[in-house]
Amino acid sequence: MGAGDISREVLSDRRATPGLIQIRDATADDAAALARLCGQLGHPAKTEEMPARLARLATDPNIRVLVADSHEGVVGLATVHVRHMINHEAPLAQLTTLVVDEQFRGQGVGRALVATAERLAHERACKRLIVTTALRRTDAHAFYERLGFTHTGRRYGKDFL
Ligand SMILES: CC(C)(COP(=O)(O)OP(=O)(O)OC[C@H]1O[C@@H](n2cnc3c(N)ncnc32)[C@H](O)[C@@H]1OP(=O)(O)O)[C@@H](O)C(=O)NCCC(=O)NCCS
Repeated sequence: MGAGDISREVLSDRRATPGLIQIRDATADDAAALARLCGQLGHPAKTEEMPARLARLATDPNIRVLVADSHEGVVGLATVHVRHMINHEAPLAQLTTLVVDEQFRGQGVGRALVATAERLAHERACKRLIVTTALRRTDAHAFYERLGFTHTGRRYGKDFL
């Protein structure tokens, strides 16, 4: 059975912080904000690269690119991948990107993005929501633990490029 779409309705009428921000799917019009936020995450990107990246991700119904929109514009970004596993019947959801604009941190935007990722994961009957984060991101570790995530493993990586 195919994984199917993550429902669009889950976001439709939800304002994570009423009157302040709305979590919605990213569009090509958000390209400049997406590039800015990737840069703040330490992964510099060009605005003109973003539409093609978004289009690639949009071909996979198990991936969502979410932005936190406010009256100031886009102030946060999260991506969620739903993964089917051979060793579990239920899929896993993974938060694969999370960044809040430097000027808007500490105002609940990150919490709202993660809450939406959790709703998507529940909707897809995922077993759990996981995230990997670099050892140097000690602020992020404290944030995830504050939100109820527990430290259960290590990440190893080998760079090819
Ligand atoms: C980590 C990050 C996404 C958090 O987003 P944020 O909008 O600043 O966090 P919030 O304001 O939603 O905080 C949610 C809760 O976590 C707590 N928290 C956030 N950062 C914290 C920190 N450094 N230490 C302790 N607690 C922290 C807040 O106090 C808040 O608690 P409360 O709601 O119970 O009062 C943001 O700081 C960021 O973009 N950091 C740089 C990029 C990054 O490290 N991303 C993660 C990559 S894996």
